[in-house]
Amino acid sequence: MPPEVLHPRRPGPRILHVSDLHFGTREDPEMADAIAALIERTEPELIVASGDLTHRGRRAQHESAARVLRAFGLPVLAVPGNHDLPYTFPARFTRPWAEFERMWQTTEPIYRSERVLIVGLNSARPWRQQSGGVRTRQLEWAAEHLATADDGALRVVVLHHHLLGAPWRSRKKPVADRNRVLAALVESGAELILAGHIHQGAVSERREFEVATPGGERGVTVSIAPGLGQPRPNRRGEARGLHVYEARAHEIDVQTYVWRRDGWALTAERRFPRGREPLAYAELR
Ligand SMILES: [Fe+2]
Ligand SMILES: [Fe+2]
Repeated sequence: MPPEVLHPRRPGPRILHVSDLHFGTREDPEMADAIAALIERTEPELIVASGDLTHRGRRAQHESAARVLRAFGLPVLAVPGNHDLPYTFPARFTRPWAEFERMWQTTEPIYRSERVLIVGLNSARPWRQQSGGVRTRQLEWAAEHLATADDGALRVVVLHHHLLGAPWRSRKKPVADRNRVLAALVESGAELILAGHIHQGAVSERREFEVATPGGERGVTVSIAPGLGQPRPNRRGEARGLHVYEARAHEIDVQTYVWRRDGWALTAERRFPRGREPLAYAELR
């Protein structure tokens, strides 16, 4: 009998990642049903929403976003994006996170299970219009929590601003000082870094762009979800979609689904190494 029958492959933890919903602009009621169907099929452990849940940071928009995200009956981890701040003065500076926290309690949430530890970082800044940053003390705080993950648990960090360049045109700048941010997250043991903001899907394993000594640093999969909302429907280059991750002992699989009016299309399946070893090595020498 083949070993896989004796030991059926235990599926790894799965995460459904949405970003940039921009509630308050156009909404498609049929999309919520389609997400529910996708959840039924892929069985994620939780939903991660990486910011810009709303378009103008208004109370009603925050309420709609939270209601829709929670209606799937799964835990939801949400961090704010630049659009989740109040658009109006002085609220943007006097109570920047009040509406977000009213729905989500905190702008830097933590999700912990036996198989996953996720740390959310708030990279949006009231005094910046679009761009974002992460302070050293936020990175230290993330490191403290990542260090407490159970053995073998997938260590994930979520922020709104991207660390990778956009595959298509974008004027949006990545998170400020991204070399420092990425280095700190690698050092603290992050294995998967999730973001949004550019409304385009992009996924890369760190060793695709940073040289690592043989047998050296761990890989990190850096992933940006396509936008799920579409605040500027006439703008080209803004697909709508989401990502589903599955982590196994030595691999992270990323599925990219795009929205096609009548449902989801799986447009990419990508596999990345998890840990120090590449996907294959010895047999290629
Ligand atoms: Fe956005
Ligand atoms: Fe954004």
